[in-house]
Amino acid sequence: MNKPPLTILLAAPRGFCAGVVRAIDIVERALALYGAPVYVRHEIVHNKFVVDDLKAKGAVFVDELDEIPDGDRPVIFSAHGVPKAVPQAARLRQMFQIDATCPLVTKVHMEAQRHHGEGLDIVLIGHKGHPEVIGTMGQLPDGAITLIETVEEAQSFAPHDPAKLAYVTQTTLSVDDTRDIVETLKRRFPEIRGPYKEDICYATTNRQEAVKSIAEKIDFLLVVGAPNSSNSKRLVEVGLKNGCPSAELVQRAADLDWSKLKGLGTVGLTAGASAPEVLVNEIIDAFRGHYDVTVEKVVLREENVSFKLPRELRETKPAA
Ligand code: F3S
Repeated sequence: MNKPPLTILLAAPRGFCAGVVRAIDIVERALALYGAPVYVRHEIVHNKFVVDDLKAKGAVFVDELDEIPDGDRPVIFSAHGVPKAVPQAARLRQMFQIDATCPLVTKVHMEAQRHHGEGLDIVLIGHKGHPEVIGTMGQLPDGAITLIETVEEAQSFAPHDPAKLAYVTQTTLSVDDTRDIVETLKRRFPEIRGPYKEDICYATTNRQEAVKSIAEKIDFLLVVGAPNSSNSKRLVEVGLKNGCPSAELVQRAADLDWSKLKGLGTVGLTAGASAPEVLVNEIIDAFRGHYDVTVEKVVLREENVSFKLPRELRETKPAA
């Protein structure tokens, strides 16, 4: 039987960002240098496929440091960043710690510290409970940072001193929603200080713009990513807000609900910053089982960002 035709618009940039590549490299390099087990506090990046692959190579994922036995094994902190109390606790136990925090998250930590040092109260625009938000709030003493999630919260926020205020943001937010929150804060507190350069990172911005560029041309948007991946969830929202009638997050091809994917003409496909390309290809292959597929690449812009590994991993050679 002939399969119906389907065009897949494959958005780019998509998938791994430089911070995720670096974090995964850090775990793999630590395994190569020091052997297994290497401990990793929290999912190194929000993707089960990536985490399972590293587990198979000898990484052991823990929620907290007290799950790690004493000894000389490396402990790696995830790309999302950690509260200051975590490296402090690791130092007290003389743990061999390696920080895989994305440098663009570290930039936000440093901004928050700079504002605090200048006597400003800080607003963090972000999502409660996300590890990056917990890590950023944990850079400063309790009460120094107020989390704001919505325009409504920005409207009702009552600072101690409106003239001594600064804001920072999570790196993986919706560019458009954040602009609305920032505009509300600036309207209410004209003296509020912001980052020199946007906190929402290049990868988040590029993936959202790439989705916007195809949203009106597609019947359905599929975003390959994990349900706890902030930037992946934002891509679904960006698709829906910009003219795509339906959009969903999908982790693996086996999770596709074909009852929703009947009778389509054009599907958009992208991937969050922690989703590997092999999973994108798996989705395309699954569509080939149901449709006569033509893949069209839609490249909004090229990315050539990379981050260096931490010095302790760059300068050490693997044991012979
Ligand atoms: Fe870093 Fe942005 Fe990726 S903050 S981990 S480059 S999504």
